[in-house]
Amino acid sequence: MSTVVVIGTQWGDEGKGKVVDLLTARADCVVRFQGGNNAGHTLVVGGRKIILHLTPSGILHPGTVCLIGNGVVVDPKVLLEELERLKDFGVLITPERLVVSAYAHVIMPYHRLLDVARENRKGQGRIGTTGRGIGPCYEDKVARTGVRMHHLLNEKTLRHRLEETLEEKNFMLSHYYGQAPVILENVLKEYLDYGRRLAPFVADVSTRLHEALQSQKAILFEGAQGTHLDVDHGTYPFVTSSNTVAGNACCGAGLGPTAIHHVLGIMKAYTTRVGGGPFPTELTDQIGEHMRTCGGEFGSTTGRPRRCGWLDLSVVKDAVRLNGLASLAVTKLDVLTGLPRLRMAVQYRCQGNVLDRLPPELDRLEQCDPVYEDFDGWEQDLRQVRRFEDLPSAARRYLEAVQDHLGIPFSIISVGPGREQTIVLQDPFRLASERGFSN
Ligand code: GDP
Ligand code: IMO
Ligand code: MG
Repeated sequence: MSTVVVIGTQWGDEGKGKVVDLLTARADCVVRFQGGNNAGHTLVVGGRKIILHLTPSGILHPGTVCLIGNGVVVDPKVLLEELERLKDFGVLITPERLVVSAYAHVIMPYHRLLDVARENRKGQGRIGTTGRGIGPCYEDKVARTGVRMHHLLNEKTLRHRLEETLEEKNFMLSHYYGQAPVILENVLKEYLDYGRRLAPFVADVSTRLHEALQSQKAILFEGAQGTHLDVDHGTYPFVTSSNTVAGNACCGAGLGPTAIHHVLGIMKAYTTRVGGGPFPTELTDQIGEHMRTCGGEFGSTTGRPRRCGWLDLSVVKDAVRLNGLASLAVTKLDVLTGLPRLRMAVQYRCQGNVLDRLPPELDRLEQCDPVYEDFDGWEQDLRQVRRFEDLPSAARRYLEAVQDHLGIPFSIISVGPGREQTIVLQDPFRLASERGFSN
């Protein structure tokens, strides 16, 4: 029995999808536990690319069971479209391969409308959400006015839920945001149809996972977003609306903390961010442009250009602490090829003080100046490298400095988007099973 949680250590898009797809070769089950189709996880297999928003990134491995936990917010239309796209990709999804928690909350049309209307009204101060209705759906969950997957399976219950909630939603939409109200009968008809189509996939994920653990299966938990987009621990309010940290793998899937054996952090070799919010090491010059162009840094969900900057180790140090990271996968090292000098921020200087971590107050963070260490760059194309020893010495020095500052080992180094473009130093599942036996 071994379980591994994969977590983004920065502001998302670290390459979680690629690593999850790679590690699925060792997993029996892959589980999403938070977020929704704000996520965009890119897999490149045999030169073919697919972006998944809701389906766990293990789905391309035949025989792996993919589970969408109670902590995820599900847009049923997007899920059904994704299943169709997977079919075109040659992957047929059956209820034996995909399970959606009956407890997962459903993104309704008014959630999407409210998300977009609210952002438009905010103007300059907007968060830069993905506009997928994520925040409003989680709000309804906590307000106890949400719709869950099992509600879609019963007309009477769904009608009752909508009658209770639509009066207020429509008041906000029409009187506050100047939008057309949504019509109950239309929503009811559309969502009952989604319910009918998804019914074979809806079950209790917690029980399934418990059974998998009892039968010594290997389970991979796939985080979405990144640690600094966490609603509690991130750069609030420029965050998403769920807990993205490893602890939420338990709540969002329905397991206890003793079920987790290894937490793997994914760290991009530089930093990116989509949407608004502070970014101390951001580069708006030619170097940032190099990262965006060579790294293909355009949002997988919205297509927006990602903001790019130097690696910020205060950000990653926070992630080590907040997630209890046991090892690190570094991704996109190949993108730094060709830059003559490299920098990484190791601390901040803020109003005469030296800080090791991000302060909670955004205005203070905005006044922080990164303290940089400088490194030589390298010219060698890394995409064919498969052993640590074969990396150029400058790349090894860069990685060794990261490891010295963070105090945790690398288990994986990724040198390209493809599954095979990877240096595996230690198998996270082996590390997990060693831990599992000593639990
Ligand atoms: P996720 O949201 O964390 O799964 O990451 P995304 O898929 O949104 O963004 C990561 C992007 O980088 C995708 O286009 C991946 O195909 C790509 N990628 C992942 N690892 C590497 C790598 O090591 N090198 C390069 N060049 N691209 C990578
Ligand atoms: P993956 O899983 C990068 C960002 C949005 C916005 C903020 C809130 O691919 O790493 P939301 O729609 O969640 O209310 O938007 O969070 N955001 C992401 N940024 N990668 C993601 O997911 C993201 N999911 C949300 O850009 O700033
Ligand atoms: Mg992404």
